[in-house]
Amino acid sequence: QPVLQNNPSISVSTEISTAACLEITVLFGSQTGNARRLAEKLTEKLKEHGFQITCSAMDDFKPQKLKNVRILLIVVSTYGEGDPPDNALSFYEFLHSRKAPCLKELQYSVLALGDSSYEHFCKTGQDFDKRLKELGGEQLYPRTDCDVDFEDPAQEWMEGILRTLHEMPESASAITAATVSAGSPAPGPSPALLASGTPPVTDQPVYSRSHPFEAEVLDNLNLNGRGSDRETRHLELSIEGSNLQYEPGDCLGIYPQNQPMLVDTLINVMGWHPEELVPVGKERGECPLREALLRHYEITVLTKTVLEQVAQLSANPGLKELLKQGNEKAFRAYVEGRDLLDLVEDYALSGIPARDFVPMLRMIPPRLYSIASSPKASPEEVHLTIRAVRYHAHGRQRFGVCSVYCAERVQPGDTLPVYVHHNPDFKLPSNPDTPVIMIGPGTGVAPFRGFLAEREEIGAKGKTWLFFGDRHFRTDFLYQLEWQRWLKEGVLTRMDVAFSRDTDSKVYVQHRMQEKSRELFEWLEEGAHVYVCGDKQRMAKDVHAALIDILEGEGGMSREESEAYLTRMRQEKRYQRDVY
Ligand code: 2AM
Repeated sequence: QPVLQNNPSISVSTEISTAACLEITVLFGSQTGNARRLAEKLTEKLKEHGFQITCSAMDDFKPQKLKNVRILLIVVSTYGEGDPPDNALSFYEFLHSRKAPCLKELQYSVLALGDSSYEHFCKTGQDFDKRLKELGGEQLYPRTDCDVDFEDPAQEWMEGILRTLHEMPESASAITAATVSAGSPAPGPSPALLASGTPPVTDQPVYSRSHPFEAEVLDNLNLNGRGSDRETRHLELSIEGSNLQYEPGDCLGIYPQNQPMLVDTLINVMGWHPEELVPVGKERGECPLREALLRHYEITVLTKTVLEQVAQLSANPGLKELLKQGNEKAFRAYVEGRDLLDLVEDYALSGIPARDFVPMLRMIPPRLYSIASSPKASPEEVHLTIRAVRYHAHGRQRFGVCSVYCAERVQPGDTLPVYVHHNPDFKLPSNPDTPVIMIGPGTGVAPFRGFLAEREEIGAKGKTWLFFGDRHFRTDFLYQLEWQRWLKEGVLTRMDVAFSRDTDSKVYVQHRMQEKSRELFEWLEEGAHVYVCGDKQRMAKDVHAALIDILEGEGGMSREESEAYLTRMRQEKRYQRDVY
């Protein structure tokens, strides 16, 4: 309501006066950035309501300050085997150590993010909740555990927090003084913000994870040569008219569709009717079953919550047995790599009506891909590098939902629902003269295409060095001509490649790094930034170990000193990783 901005006397209720009384600390621990984004959203919201907030990553927060905090709001995700995100680790350890202070004066609440298809769902958030209570803290508002479709529960948690804060005595005592008129600007947010709760409305819709933009596909090519055992797609999307902004290093979220074959088989096996109307969430209402299973519901991952609900509708004793307490190992072994079709076949679930069954499923979560372009070099476009995931498991061919959707069923002219996922932890150095080392085997090379395109566009002078690897030189040298052009033109100073299956023994990027350890060390000493993108399980670990070796060998450091060197680089944002 922009009208309010010019209104001469506006009465503003409680929000402004609370500012002076309540100081709030928001801490987040985030791996891919969702928790960070939610923490920032929460901070915005609280500021709009006049509260004083400090918001930071857990590891940027001085733990000694904790004993002075009165209100603490935590947003934290869990990843892997119940592990805290990297930027929550030291705070997590501090809190669980003997150094942790008594927190009798503290009121807190936790928003936990996780994925219920993993065993230790939301464990980090739960740990924080439990530990803060042990240390004497009092829950300000109950913890909320969110699954992959976290937007709605997170929103509810934030609203609950706001309500609770406004109900606190410190807020109430100050309500009386809260009338503001034009000419005597109050500290805090503009009346328009307070009135609407959101910034003034503009004509431009804001596209986001919960409101994706339909981006037209301009191009979709296979980057691998004939005879390759891999298929890597280069997608070019138009974001014209979306007002979506990104920088190299950011990701694009895509909402994929399930495989029609899988959907149709499932419908058949269950004896359902494809046109039957089923609910697809509060906002969307109902839609035909086939469309719901193609576009909205997740059918390729089995979670405990879903199985428990399904078990209630089925008389199958086998399923109940699988879900029994103490049977965790057998349960994990079963769900690993299996999908909904396996479940309904293995446990003879046909006969359960679609409108009872389907609403128990999770919504399809979006998939994130590192952007492979620079908005300066390719205005209004986003380029992606996507490897089609196909493998055999449990007696059947399996397909990565999004990658194979993009590889097989998306053509130029089609649209894809997308949004930009900002990644402030994977950014080129602000100084264009700073040397840059990029390590990206396979599709991990994607963001570096964006980095180099950007550096070319701004005429950056800094040196650049790319390590790339894949299986075969002849068929798998992704974007070969582009790197060669950049080498010739000096945008790329050096490039080392490792083709792992052209020789008898495997060569990987870290071997090339070790061969060039002297120069690499010199670059590090000159202040180079190091970027690693790609496989997390093995590659990123091996590359890290190679860096340690190089520091030991060339820098004459001990193991501890080398570790400390890399930790310092990480703190200075000179060692950044985008690994998955
Ligand atoms: P491979 O498939 O022959 O084992 C991109 O996928 C490239 O990364 C491939 O050449 C792949 O080799 C390689 N790769 C596999 N494991 C790796 C590791 N631990 N470190 C570095 N590269 C690895």
